Amino acid sequence: MQAINNIVILTGAGISAESGIATFRGPDGLWEGQRVEDVATPEAFMRDPALVQTFYDQRRAALTAVEPNAAHHALALLDKKWSGDFLLVTQNVDDLHDRAAADMGIDGRLLHMHGQLRSAWCLNCDKRSEWTDDLSGAPACPQCGQSGFMRPDIVWFGEMPYAMRAIETALAKCDLFVSIGTSGAVYPAAGFVQTARRYGAQTLELNLDVSNGSNQFDETRQGPATVLVPAWVESLLAA
Ligand code: APR
Repeated sequence: MQAINNIVILTGAGISAESGIATFRGPDGLWEGQRVEDVATPEAFMRDPALVQTFYDQRRAALTAVEPNAAHHALALLDKKWSGDFLLVTQNVDDLHDRAAADMGIDGRLLHMHGQLRSAWCLNCDKRSEWTDDLSGAPACPQCGQSGFMRPDIVWFGEMPYAMRAIETALAKCDLFVSIGTSGAVYPAAGFVQTARRYGAQTLELNLDVSNGSNQFDETRQGPATVLVPAWVESLLAA
């Protein structure tokens, strides 16, 4: 087995499920009672901004009732201890990885490729602001002062994910790519395993059940993230 220096980890909704945040593709095919197309596209926002703002306001408010779990904390520990390159790419818009890193006393090596609930994007001045309140009610942008231009800083379907260049660079250099708690249904994240393989990385999937991409990984382990992730981190740090 080749030595592992550089690691890229991709996480999805499954890592936050045991903290109490619903995944996207549950058995009923709805996401918190809504069809994804009704709330997670630029067209939906143009058609019914109040519905979309309320939906994300509720998700943002719900963050105050959840905490990072053992899987988030294990990845923060790995980030803290790992002396090689480390990049945690999350598709999640919650802030549980951020809080786990803060609990560990580190500035996490973390990218939110699909944006963040606790960020607002002003379409007037194009600036982002940290945001913990509601966006319904047309609040003023703290940076330009204009009201009615703030939208959730979320990458919706049809929009370009953030930080793709940095992610591609890290994938090309990594020796190990690990995918945790994601169904592999949404590109470009679903294609990261192929990119990492092409550059010669080992690949590992940790997921509750078989995902769309399971057969593309060198190894897959099935079970809850709070069990699989701490065990994997412990063995990696002990090796
Ligand atoms: N531990 C590990 N995996 C879990 C757990 C758990 N406790 N609970 C659920 N899972 C797995 C599910 O089996 C599923 O494969 O997590 C995966 C979650 O898949 P999705 O709901 O499709 O979420 P995700 O892959 O993050 O979605 C990707 O789709 O709607 C968009 O932008 C949104 O970022 C999101 C993207």
